Amino acid sequence: MRIDILTLFPTMFFSALQESILKRAQQQGLLTLVIHPIRDYALDRHQLTDDIPYGGGEGMILKPEPIFRAVRSILGTTPAPVILLTPQGRPLQHTVVEELAQHPRLLLICGHYEGVDERVRQHVVTDEISIGDYVLTGGELAAMVVVDAVARFIPGVLGAAEGAYNDSFAAGLLEGPQYTRPPVFAGWEVPDILRAGNHALIARWKRTMALQRTLERRPDLLEKAALTSEDEDMLKQFHRTLGEPNVME
Ligand code: 6GU
Repeated sequence: MRIDILTLFPTMFFSALQESILKRAQQQGLLTLVIHPIRDYALDRHQLTDDIPYGGGEGMILKPEPIFRAVRSILGTTPAPVILLTPQGRPLQHTVVEELAQHPRLLLICGHYEGVDERVRQHVVTDEISIGDYVLTGGELAAMVVVDAVARFIPGVLGAAEGAYNDSFAAGLLEGPQYTRPPVFAGWEVPDILRAGNHALIARWKRTMALQRTLERRPDLLEKAALTSEDEDMLKQFHRTLGEPNVME
């Protein structure tokens, strides 16, 4: 998969995307990231990338010409999603990440300052994405979030055991508690069931914990989760437990 990123601040990407799993993915040729400074496509003498807003108002607006020139130069006639990172976009969620990962190429445009000329939105952008209900100083960090989340779905990027399709979010649940050695740390023990090696019991325990944690922290996720009838029974059990008067009070 190839992801091109159009940004005013190319150096922001250099270290963030060159470590760990994303570094390995690029070395293995599974992921190609190409960072393009918008300024390289501004052809006037001062290489202006932004200008004051028509009608007045705060801040500066990204000019259309450099962005149109860049997209034409980067994609040519190759069809690919052209995604603007903006707080006005559709919210990034697991399902959106999976959908984006199906494309062989993506082009991400990092919005900045107060905004982007509306003609960019209307005539070159095909999708707009936000990473949450808060405002960042620019789309760069959001673009990195998209790259990281999408890369996990490229076949081979994660090891077979850690595959993105197997993680609990794919089933719509949060992960339960996890432990590593030592078995006892400062008097706190790893649950016996995890150390006993009965794989069926361990799987059931993990599922129970995932359901319980999701119910406690993100009950909204349970509505869309793929639940078995055994899961439903377990949830009813939790509800009953939670509904009981607490004798300690
Ligand atoms: Cl994609 N951009 C900016 N500037 N702020 C955001 C965002 C994106 N998503 C959430 N906040």
